Amino acid sequence: MRLKGKSALITGSARGIGKAFAEAYAREGATVAIADIDLEAARKTAAGIGDSAYAVALDVTDQASIDAAVKAVEDKTGGLDILINNAALFDLAPIVEISRTSYEKLFSVNVAGTLFMLQAASRSMIARGKGGRIINIASQAGRRGEPLVAVYCATKAAVISLTQSAGLDLIKHRINVNGIAPGVVDSDMWDQVDALFARYENRPKGEKKRLVGEGVPYGRMGRPEDLAGMAVFLASDEAEYIVAQTYNVDGGQWMS
Ligand SMILES: NC(=O)c1ccc[n+]([C@@H]2O[C@H](COP(=O)([O-])OP(=O)(O)OC[C@H]3O[C@@H](n4cnc5c(N)ncnc54)[C@H](O)[C@@H]3O)[C@@H](O)[C@H]2O)c1
Repeated sequence: MRLKGKSALITGSARGIGKAFAEAYAREGATVAIADIDLEAARKTAAGIGDSAYAVALDVTDQASIDAAVKAVEDKTGGLDILINNAALFDLAPIVEISRTSYEKLFSVNVAGTLFMLQAASRSMIARGKGGRIINIASQAGRRGEPLVAVYCATKAAVISLTQSAGLDLIKHRINVNGIAPGVVDSDMWDQVDALFARYENRPKGEKKRLVGEGVPYGRMGRPEDLAGMAVFLASDEAEYIVAQTYNVDGGQWMS
């Protein structure tokens, strides 16, 4: 077991990729806070994992909620070792139709949520003096723009940039900050993506998802479990010397 005795908090882990991270971490011996704005789903996910998981209410756009979630982890486990910043929202619109509401919502969850969770977690880790690991979930969308996806792409480019700056700043405290950039992953989020493409590209439902899956060099869309190995590795002792990097785990979609 590579994470034995470690305490982890994973944002947005009630479902999808975050849930797969939580299951993998529990298998590797960690105790995991399933921290999500959807508390009922978080409770269900924690119950499905068993004794090594517990649900925590968290809205990453609310500082009081962030502070309370970190405190809940400290109280429950004695201190936080690993944070995965995974919660995010998606939206899609042509440039001429982007609304301020959508822009503010996405930047608030995907960028401010990542930064201020990272800040609260690193303050807790520094005070404890045992270092830590922080893993930010970016996206292939952060590697380049897309015609209909300007805002989401910009938020994920910001996540890659924050990973670099925070990684360089926090390594002196032995807190390693790194990121993972998934490609296209079959989750509730992609069902929403497909529905939006159906509207804006005038396609039947399901077609975009099928085409995108066929376009992945590996030959299919990612599954949430495909991301888990990298998340375990980056939190493990083997990744001690890795600092401020974002790794593509995407079936060959992007090379950089
Ligand atoms: N699915 C993909 O194809 C894909 C591709 C690249 C990157 N990603 C990234 O992977 C991560 C997980 O994606 P997913 O597909 O599992 O998404 P998802 O929509 O299935 O799950 C996201 C979770 O975040 C939670 N959440 C939303 N807002 C929150 C908030 N304010 N506070 C706390 N929790 C909140 C939701 O309740 C949900 O449980 C995201 O960062 C996403 O951008 C996904």
